[in-house]
Amino acid sequence: MTQRTLSIIKPDAVAKNVIGEIYSRFEKAGLQIVASKMVHLSKEQAEGFYAEHSERGFFGELVGFMTSGPVMIQVLEGEDAITKNRDLMGATNPKEAEAGTIRADFATSIDANAVHGSDAPESAAREIAYFFGDNEICPRG
Ligand code: PPS
Repeated sequence: MTQRTLSIIKPDAVAKNVIGEIYSRFEKAGLQIVASKMVHLSKEQAEGFYAEHSERGFFGELVGFMTSGPVMIQVLEGEDAITKNRDLMGATNPKEAEAGTIRADFATSIDANAVHGSDAPESAAREIAYFFGDNEICPRG
């Protein structure tokens, strides 16, 4: 089933200059980048994006980290894109991430963990619409 998912390369990975290496992993896995933009998120943008986690103890740290530098945001399209991207990412905590995953290779800690990826079709649709208008997404068929 062809799906779309939202991916964010977080400030730690942008600072490490590994955007291209991460894009290469998406492409080698058969995912197409159909939209992308670099943004330095405002506090309001980050709080809105992570609103479902607002009651969690780490919310302030998460928002602080996500606004600490620019992020690269992209829409990935392909067969089972949501699961495929989550598999490429590895576990939230890089200490638990399988060897060869993006987080095992590039993440620093559970908060500076290199990438975000939507976890379900509903969140993917919401997250894509949060950052991109329909006219900013360019499927190649
Ligand atoms: S997940 O991926 O949604 O299942 O992970 P979850 O454990 O629910 O975490 C949600 C997001 O919060 C980030 N996170 C943290 N940030 C800072 N400090 C701590 N301790 C922490 N624990 C989790 C985690 O990276 C998830 O961010 P995203 O961008 O969704 O991957």
